[in-house]
Amino acid sequence: MKVFEIENICYSYPDGTKALNDLSFSVYEGEILGIAGANGSGKSTLLMLMMGCLSPLHGKIIYEGEKLSKQKLMIMRRETGILFQDPDDQLFLPTVWEDVAFGPRNLGLTEEEVALRVNSALRDTGIEALANKAPWKLSGGEKTLAALAGLFAMRPKTLLLDEPTSGLDPKSRRELINIIGRTKNTAVIATHDLDMVMDVCQRVVIMKNGTIESDGKVPGVLTDREFMASCGLEIPLSLTSRFS
Ligand SMILES: Nc1ncnc2c1ncn2[C@@H]1O[C@H](COP(=O)(O)OP(=O)(O)OP(=O)(O)O)[C@@H](O)[C@H]1O
Ligand SMILES: [Mg+2]
Repeated sequence: MKVFEIENICYSYPDGTKALNDLSFSVYEGEILGIAGANGSGKSTLLMLMMGCLSPLHGKIIYEGEKLSKQKLMIMRRETGILFQDPDDQLFLPTVWEDVAFGPRNLGLTEEEVALRVNSALRDTGIEALANKAPWKLSGGEKTLAALAGLFAMRPKTLLLDEPTSGLDPKSRRELINIIGRTKNTAVIATHDLDMVMDVCQRVVIMKNGTIESDGKVPGVLTDREFMASCGLEIPLSLTSRFS
C-alpha cells in the first residue's frame, strides 16, 4: 500500500526561490526510503510539504489514498513523526523528560503509560542520563537524540527524518541506525549519510535542483561514481576501496 503519493508538486519560497519543480514519487508501507541530494537540492522542503508545514503551489500530496484536506492532515500528523533538521525547532520544555512526555500526554494517556513510553524512548536513544537536563543545555548531537526520543515516544506509524545522524558520534550513530534498521515503521530519511542509506534503506531517491534525478533500489546508482558526481554527491565511503 502507498502511504504517501506525491504528484507533480512545485514549491517556491516567498522570496521567489524555486525549491521543488514537478516532483513525483510514492512512499510504500513498511519501506525505509532514503532521500539524498546536494545542499539546497530540496530535501528539507520536500519533508516540510509532506508534513503539511508548507503547501505545494502546484500538484498534490495524497496520504493513505486521500488528498491532504484539513481533516486528513490531522490524521496524518497523529500517525507521522517528523524530525526537523534543526532540533531546536522541536525542543521547548524545561527538561528532556518533560519534552519527550509532551506528545504522549497530548494523546490523553495515563501518567503511568506516559512514563513507560518516555522511559523506553530515552533508553532506545541512550539518553536516560539526560532526562532532567534542560534541552537548551544539550550538545547538538544530544539535542537530536532528545528530539528523536520525542518522536519514538509517540509510536508513529511513519517517520520523516531530516538528517537524523548529523552531529552524532559514531556510537550514537550506530545505535540510531540499529533502531531504524529494526523498526517496522515506514520511514523517509533525508540525509547526506549515504553509508546509513546503504545500511538501512531499501530504496533511494536522488534529488538535484528540486527534481528527482533517480529513484530506485539500493545500492543502484549509489555505486555509479559519475552519476553521483553529476548530482554533487560521492559514492558511499563503504564502497570506496582504500586502494582506488
Ligand atoms: N525559508 C526559506 N526561504 C527562501 N528560500 C529557502 C528557504 N528555505 C530553503 N530555501 C531554499 O530552497 C532550496 C532548497 O532548500 P532545502 O533546505 O530544502 O535543501 P536541502 O536539500 O534540505 O539542503 P541541505 O542538504 O543543506 O539540508 C535552497 O535553494 C534554499 O536556499
Ligand atoms: Mg535540509
